[in-house]
Amino acid sequence: MAHEQRTAIVTGASKGIGAAIALRLAQDGHAVIANYASDEAGANEIADAIKKAGGQAIAVQGDISDPSCMPRLFDAAEQEFGSVDVLVNNAGIMRLGAVASTSDADFEAHCAVNIGGAFRGMREAANRLNAGGAIVSLSSSVVGLYQPTYGVYAATKAAVEAMSHVLAKELGPRGITVNAVAPGPVGTDLFLAGKPDTVIENIKKMNPFGRLGTPEDIAAAVSLLAGPDGHWISGQTLRANGGVI
Ligand SMILES: NC(=O)c1ccc[n+]([C@@H]2O[C@H](COP(=O)([O-])OP(=O)(O)OC[C@H]3O[C@@H](n4cnc5c(N)ncnc54)[C@H](OP(=O)(O)O)[C@@H]3O)[C@@H](O)[C@H]2O)c1
Repeated sequence: MAHEQRTAIVTGASKGIGAAIALRLAQDGHAVIANYASDEAGANEIADAIKKAGGQAIAVQGDISDPSCMPRLFDAAEQEFGSVDVLVNNAGIMRLGAVASTSDADFEAHCAVNIGGAFRGMREAANRLNAGGAIVSLSSSVVGLYQPTYGVYAATKAAVEAMSHVLAKELGPRGITVNAVAPGPVGTDLFLAGKPDTVIENIKKMNPFGRLGTPEDIAAAVSLLAGPDGHWISGQTLRANGGVI
């Protein structure tokens, strides 16, 4: 049964995992701020689907690497829905390459989006989230797998996990849970881009289910941590990966 309506901000909700999280949290009874960077049509489609199903949602543009983005997302949520209960730091980028050939620009972009965006989201949430709220940030199961070409990306996700675990201790006294969800391979643009079919088939075999994860698989894990049944789970990284590691 859906619980009392709360408000959730989901970054990167125009497609992929973030879109599934926005739809799932709306189904769970959240009014949703569906953030996007460039794909306005995708974010509007998600917000429209939520409204069509009887929920509440607005799409809000903002680049999470821009320091003004998070305050604006919280302002929009407060204006539209009153206050914020849940932040999902989902938006992220992944540009694979051996450490030896990674450019400074790619390194800086990973840091700005994956670490900077999550940090500013956590800081804003630490100051503005309702008591009893939840912060869920997307890490990756490559933290632990440590495969070649994932060096910089994995490093940024390890930082997200570390920050989540520390923030859980800082916000526990206010009844706010802070966790990371670390998906294994999920069939989205971010994962599929540039990978030949043979590589994808081999990656599927890395978990005992023999398939890629779906955005909905990951949204279910986020739903648990963001909802009432997750109230005693904090300072954890949940590896939602079909048992890949
Ligand atoms: N797919 C996987 O296998 C996998 C595995 C482990 C972890 N993850 C993590 O899961 C999260 C979602 O990944 P995904 O696979 O769903 O990726 P995706 O399909 O590429 O979608 C990425 C989303 O993030 C948004 N975004 C990117 N940069 C942004 C920025 N600077 N500011 C605001 N929004 C931004 C995009 O917005 P626009 O479309 O508007 O540009 C899009 O909505 C990421 O943090 C990723 O690292 C994914």
